[in-house]
Amino acid sequence: MLTRRAFVTHAAAGLLATTRHAQAASDVPENLTAREAAVQLPPEGYAETSIWGYDGRAPGPLIRVPQGRRVKRRLVNDLPAPTSIHWHGIRIDNAMDGVAGLTQDAVAPGRTFDYDFVAPDAGTYWYHAHNRSWEQVARGLHGPLVVEEADAPDVDHEEILVLDDWLLDPETALIDDRFNHPMRMSHAGRIGNLLTTNGRFDFSRPVRRHARLRLRLINASNARIFPLGLAGLRGWIVALDGMPLSAPEPLHEVLVLGPAQRADLIVDVTAEDGETAHLLRFGNEGRPASQAAFPVRGTATRTARGAPGPLPPNPGGGIRSLADARPLQLVMAGGAMGRMNSAFLGGERLGFRDLADRGRFWSFNEMAEMTQTPLADLSLGEPVRISIVNDTAFPHAMHLHGIHFREVRKGTKPGPMRDTLMLAAGETRDIAFVADNPGDWLFHCHMLSHAASGMMTWVRIT
Ligand code: C2O
Ligand code: CU
Repeated sequence: MLTRRAFVTHAAAGLLATTRHAQAASDVPENLTAREAAVQLPPEGYAETSIWGYDGRAPGPLIRVPQGRRVKRRLVNDLPAPTSIHWHGIRIDNAMDGVAGLTQDAVAPGRTFDYDFVAPDAGTYWYHAHNRSWEQVARGLHGPLVVEEADAPDVDHEEILVLDDWLLDPETALIDDRFNHPMRMSHAGRIGNLLTTNGRFDFSRPVRRHARLRLRLINASNARIFPLGLAGLRGWIVALDGMPLSAPEPLHEVLVLGPAQRADLIVDVTAEDGETAHLLRFGNEGRPASQAAFPVRGTATRTARGAPGPLPPNPGGGIRSLADARPLQLVMAGGAMGRMNSAFLGGERLGFRDLADRGRFWSFNEMAEMTQTPLADLSLGEPVRISIVNDTAFPHAMHLHGIHFREVRKGTKPGPMRDTLMLAAGETRDIAFVADNPGDWLFHCHMLSHAASGMMTWVRIT
C-alpha cells in the first residue's frame, strides 16, 4: 500500500521529472520530419497518393506561437533528396530564412538542421521547402504557421484554411512528376487538377448561425490564383499576408489570393439553420465552386454582431516617407507570347531558343538566373522604392523575403503591408520599404516554376 509519505515523495519525484522534462523540451527543439507518406487525396475509390510532407502530412502540422516567442524546430530530413525550410513572411534572422544556396546549405538526406528564431509579428504565415521548391512544395512540403496576437479578436472559433491544388495523374492518382515541363514553366506555371482545403477535396466544418469565425486563408499552391468569395457569410478582411489592416475592409465581391498570399477574414454566419455557407472559388467558367463548406446547425446567439474592429497593429509599420527612397527598377520579361528576345545566362547573352533549351523562359533585368551580385546593395535603414514592370503576358506574384513592403502609387496613400504582390500581365507596380533587416534576401516570383526558370533575384542589406 502506498503510505502518505511515500505518496508525497512519489508525487514530488514525479513533479521533478516533469519539470526536468519541460526543461529538456525547451532546449531540444521539436522535430519536424520531412518524409514520404501515402495519403488519400482524391475521393475513396482512387488509389492513395504518395506525397512528401512534414511529419508525413500535407499541409504539415500547425505551428502556433504567441507573438515575440521563439520558434524552434529540428528539420529531420527523411526524404530521398536534400531540403530546407523557409518561414514565409516572418521578419526573421537571415541565417534562419531557409534558402538553400543563399542562407544555408540544403540539408542532405538523413541529416538535420535546427531552426530557431523569434516571431516578432502576429499574423498568419506559412512554412515550406526552399530547395527545388517548384518540385518540393508541389509534392506537399508546406504547413501553416500562426503567430498569436496578445489581444486576440473576439470570435467563436477559428479555421486555418490551407488552399492548394495538386497535379495528379488521373489514372494512378500519383503526383505528376514532370516538374520541369517547358509548357507549364513558360505559361501560367504548374496548375493542379485536384483542389483541396487542408488536404481535403470536400472540406466541411459545421457552424452555428450568427457565429463569428476567423478564417486564416493561406494559398499554398505552386501557381494558382484563387478568386474567392463568400456565400451565407458576411465578412471583413482584417489582415493581408499576416499584417493587420488599419481598418477592416468589408468583403463584398472577390478576394484574389495569389500564390503564397494570406488573408485573415472575420466572418459572421448569415445562412439559416439547415443551409450551408461557403467559401467560394470563382472560376473562368460557369458557377462558383465550394472551396470550404460550412453547414449551419443551430444558432449561436440571437442576433448578429456589429462590424469587427481592427486587429492590434504589429511593431514596425513599414515605410513612412518616400522622400529619400532609393529608386530601383525590376523589369520582368519572357514567357510564352512575350517579347524577350534574349537574356544573360552564365555570363553569356543567349537567344530565346537557347534559353528555352536550358530550361530558362523568364528574366529579371535581362538576367535569366540568380546572379552573383545582388539586384541592390542596400545599407541598413535605407528607404527603397522598386518599380516592378511586368512586361510579360502572364500575372506574377512577387515575394520579398525578410521584410514587408507597401505598394505605393502617385496620389494615393501607401497600400497595406504585404510580402507578396500580384501583378497582372503588362502592369507596373511600385513597392517601398525600409531596408531594416540585415542579410541576403531573395526576391522572386512565387509561381514556383517561374522562379525556377529565371524569375529570381536578391537584395543585400548591410
Ligand atoms: Cu514562400 Cu522564397 O518563398
Ligand atoms: Cu511568375
